[in-house]
Amino acid sequence: MAKDSPDQDTPDHVAIIMDGNGRWAQGRGRPRLFGHHAGARRVKEIVRACKDLDIEYLTVYAFSTENWKRTQSEVAGLMTLFRQYIKREAKALLDEGVCVRFIGDRLRLDKKLQGLMDELEELTKDNTVVNLTIAINYGGRDEVARATHQLALDVAAGKLDATTVNEDTLSSYLDTHVLPDPDLVIRTSGEARISNFLLWQSAYSEYEFVDTLWPDFSRDEFCKVIAKYGARNRRFGAVPA
Ligand code: IPE
Ligand code: IPE
Ligand code: MG
Repeated sequence: MAKDSPDQDTPDHVAIIMDGNGRWAQGRGRPRLFGHHAGARRVKEIVRACKDLDIEYLTVYAFSTENWKRTQSEVAGLMTLFRQYIKREAKALLDEGVCVRFIGDRLRLDKKLQGLMDELEELTKDNTVVNLTIAINYGGRDEVARATHQLALDVAAGKLDATTVNEDTLSSYLDTHVLPDPDLVIRTSGEARISNFLLWQSAYSEYEFVDTLWPDFSRDEFCKVIAKYGARNRRFGAVPA
């Protein structure tokens, strides 16, 4: 789990908002889905970099609860891409020691995709080299609302004492309950917003916004961002010593 030192050089948990696939494709006169496919190929390189840099947790934002607002063909293409990605990468992820988890509300996803997600989690559950969490149909507000809903049901059923509810209780109901909070959140493509990503968990995360579009985000650039993180002074509300 997370190291306690507030100014450690290497983050334990890096979360990435993989943005800019559409613009990358459009800049090449290609359909948006071409960019999503190129973006999916980048993930492997960054997972390997995490392995080499000793970053234990990588969480990537693949599809938000708001992304359903896109055209039916883009959404369908993304869902197909997720299915293909899981089938194509399962063996390599297993062999490389990656433990894969999914966060988000999977009940709205098609049954076939849900099944593949469950299988990949089961297949890789004993791996410990890198923990890769993929956020699909994920929204920070939706996650907190679902957690609160379940918590309220547990109180009503007498399984939880309402007077004991605190931050740790709510955290334990979140999709991310087994993960440490992200130390660093990176967003590509030049947008400086969080778009409903890990709202609760990123209370004290460092942020890095880079202009590069996600399909161009290389291992080298990732390493530079990590090095820059190492120079930061995290205070968590305290006065620096
Ligand atoms: C991020 O790239 C991937 C998803 C949100 C699924 P975008 O598709 O948002 O790319 P831009 O921001 O339109 O360039
Ligand atoms: C955030 O990107 C979601 C993902 C990267 C999956 P968006 O492109 O959906 O965010 P907005 O709409 O620009 O805020
Ligand atoms: Mg975008």
